[in-house]
Order: sequence, then structure tokens, then C-alpha cells
Amino acid sequence: MASTRGAAEKAQVLVASNRGPVSYQMHDDGSLHARRGGGGLVSGLSAIGPDADSVWVCAALGDGDRAAARRADGGLLPAGDTGGQRVRMLDIDAAVHADAYNGVANSVLWFVHHMLYQTPLEPVFDAEFRRQWASYESYNRAFAEALAEEAAEGAAVLIQDYHLALAPRMLRRLRPDLRIGHFSHTPWAPPEYFRLLPDDIAAELLSGILGADRAAFLTHRWADAFRDCCHAVLGPGIPSGTRIGVHGLGADAEFLRKRAHEDDVNERMAALREEIGADRRTIVRVDRTELSKNIVRGLLAYRQLLDDHPEWRERVVHVAFAYPSRQDLAVYREYTAEVRRVADEINERYGTSGWTPVELHVKDDFARSLAAYRLADVALVNPIRDGMNLVAKEVPVVSDEGCALVLSREAGAHEELGEDAFTVNPYDIGGTAEALHEALSLPAEERAARSKRLAAAATALPPAQWFLDQLSELTGRPG
Ligand code: G6P
Repeated sequence: MASTRGAAEKAQVLVASNRGPVSYQMHDDGSLHARRGGGGLVSGLSAIGPDADSVWVCAALGDGDRAAARRADGGLLPAGDTGGQRVRMLDIDAAVHADAYNGVANSVLWFVHHMLYQTPLEPVFDAEFRRQWASYESYNRAFAEALAEEAAEGAAVLIQDYHLALAPRMLRRLRPDLRIGHFSHTPWAPPEYFRLLPDDIAAELLSGILGADRAAFLTHRWADAFRDCCHAVLGPGIPSGTRIGVHGLGADAEFLRKRAHEDDVNERMAALREEIGADRRTIVRVDRTELSKNIVRGLLAYRQLLDDHPEWRERVVHVAFAYPSRQDLAVYREYTAEVRRVADEINERYGTSGWTPVELHVKDDFARSLAAYRLADVALVNPIRDGMNLVAKEVPVVSDEGCALVLSREAGAHEELGEDAFTVNPYDIGGTAEALHEALSLPAEERAARSKRLAAAATALPPAQWFLDQLSELTGRPG
């Protein structure tokens, strides 16, 4: 439902991402209920204030979203529903979206950047993939066209992530006047791995992002890998028109500390305390059930801890929250099932009448996650690769008594938190078990001191500043 908007209605700041800041559910009577999402980008964009002339372009992700998109006046959802900015939700054909999101973005690009392919899980670049790739192109084009329509002369456009790697170049062709930024929230694969993509597609993805004035990443490591891929695949490397930037998103301390002391969190803390039992240590992890998070190896490391250090039996509980993600795809569903299977196996093997070694919860509940953060003695964050990992940053900020952090060296957060964490190689189950033992054994005072330093490092670049920095780099105006 596109419309020709007058110059005065066009936006000065635009954000584009697959998942938007709001989702809609349809009730039986046909009414729509808006639910505002969380995350760094949502709180980051709110920093420019509700009066700022902004539009967020995103995809409609379910029936409720699609109905809202169709009913929206001139294609734009009201700012009241979204907590600040106007939202243009794109009603992209469901099959095209499934190909682009499930087929290309979350099956292939996610696996390449997180280096998750290992025999027998291998990429298949056949005719079916080429068909999905065509959908990925039209999905990106839909975003580029909507952005071109909504943007005022010279506006700043911030395009997010691997779903939208082609959109910057497409938009540049439609609107050379715009200032375009692209931000990758994932790691970037090194050239030896990135080049498992077909050559033409590897080149398209890189050139797509290079259509932006600025391509930004969460760490120097991912930015360097992007540069290396440009050299390896495109030859001349980065054109002079594109700058590379690094902005390491931090935790939102103010919001988290306040939210973590609200009634619903207090209630869940009491319930969790009951489940854990008195005088027991807690090892906490919170992730989406997704292969890069390495939840199964984390559980196996915990099992090895109980084997190698039986003194911890009955004295520790592993609180593991693994929230279902991308369940349309078999590989994610199977992984979720494997997580459940391994947790059950540990509980059967070691559990006693008064002690459940693993408390696994798979239903998403943010208040309960915050309750677990507050109780954590140890946070386990062991991804195979991760763009940043905000859980590693959030737990030290929220924990009541201070927590020790067991952290994968492959998480972007390790660049900032490595000094005060117990660093692990995510593939090394024995090494992770030993790190858990050391973390649990840390004297309370030292744990509190480390946790304080971790919290300070974790909050160095809160979402608002992270967003304003990107905007001012793009526009040349101070944030
Ligand atoms: C990662 C990606 C985001 C994505 C999020 C949740 O953090 O970088 O772009 O939105 O995962 O995944 P989902 O597929 O549920 O949007």
C-alpha cells in the first residue's frame, strides 16, 4: 500500500531491518493488539526522541502484522502503537519472505558468518537455492523501494544485518542523494570460509554492502574480516566512497537495573529460588535455541564438571533458558530437541529426590531471564561465534551479588570483557568444565570485584550512544 508522500511527511532518519520494533496479534474479533519489542536497536533509536522525523521499515512477520500493514493509513503504522517512530511494515509475499529469511538468510548466510557448516551439515547450492536467492533479491528490492519512497532529500538511512546485504546498493541507485549506512550484527566470516558461497553471490553480497557510505560492525575482528573478503573476492577491495566503522553495542544499564527490580521479576525470583533450593550455586545461561550459541556443549561441560568435581553435586544448579528461535527450519528444531534431550539425560543420571541438576526452560520470558541474572553466581556464554553477545554484558550489570563470567573467546564481547572473564575455547568441553569449576570456586570478594569491572566495561557504549554515534558518523553532524 505505497503512497506518494508530500516532501514534509518524508523522514530524515530511517532504519531498515527484517524484524521491526513492534508486532501485531489478531484477536478473534479481528482487532489487532500491538506488542513492542526490545533490543539494542529499539532503545538506540528511541534516543533521537519521539518528535524526530523517523521511519522504521521492516517486514510483516505473521498474520497480525500483515493485517496491520494492509490496514495502515498510507502504509505507515501510527507512532502511538510503536512507542515513538512511524513504522512502514512491508507486506512481502509470504513465499518470497520465507525463501529470503529462512532459505537464504537463516540457513545459509547465518551459517557462513558463524562458520557452522561441518560435515555432515553442508551447504547445498542447487537450483532450489538459486530460486531462493531470487527471492532474497526481491525482498531486498522491496526494502530499497520503500526506503526510497519514505526518505527526505539527503536523509540518513541505517540498514541492518545479513537479511539486507543487497539493499544499500539498490537504494543508492534509486536515491544517490541519501546517506546510507549498513550495520552487521553478526560476525563476518574470514575469506577462506566466506568463499564457500558461489562466487557471483559472494561478490553480490559484498558489493551490496559497499553501496553504503559506511559499513559498520560490532568489533574490529569482524570489520577486518569484511575487508579481507572484499580484497579476496572483489580484487581492488574497499572503494574510496565506503568507510568502515566499528561500534561495540553495550548493555543498557539504566533500563536493565530498573526493570530487574519490578514486581514480576521479584515474583519470578522467588519461584526460581524455590526451584534451585537453598544454599546452592547457580550457573545461568540465556540464549535463543540456535546452533551458534553452543548450548549442547555447554550442557556437556556441566556434565563433565559433575563427573570431574563430584564435590559440586547437590551444591550447584544449571539454570538454562533456551528460547525457541526460527522453528520453521528443521535444523533449528532438531537442535532445540537435542538441547532438551541432553538436559533430561543429565537430570536422569545425576538428579536426586531433592536436586534437579539442570533447570531448563524453553518458553521465552524476559522477566524470568532478569530474575536468573540477579541470582547468577556464574554466567555461561560459550558461543561458537557471536557478533557481540549481550547476555555476557547484561548479567554482570544485573546480578545482585556479582557474578563470574565464563566466556567464549569467539564472542565479540570477549574483545571488551576478556580480561575479567574465564576464557574458553567453545569446542573444548573439558576446558569449559574446568573454567566452570574455577568460576564457581572464586572467593566472593574477588567475584564481586571482577563483576563490577565487567559491568563497567559492558556499559561503556549504551544503545543510545551506539546509535547516535553511527548517525553522526553518517551525517557528519555531532550526536
Ligand atoms: C540476531 C540477528 C538479528 C535477529 C536476531 C533474532 O541477533 O543479528 O538480526 O533479529 O538474531 O533472530 P530472528 O530470526 O528471530 O529475527
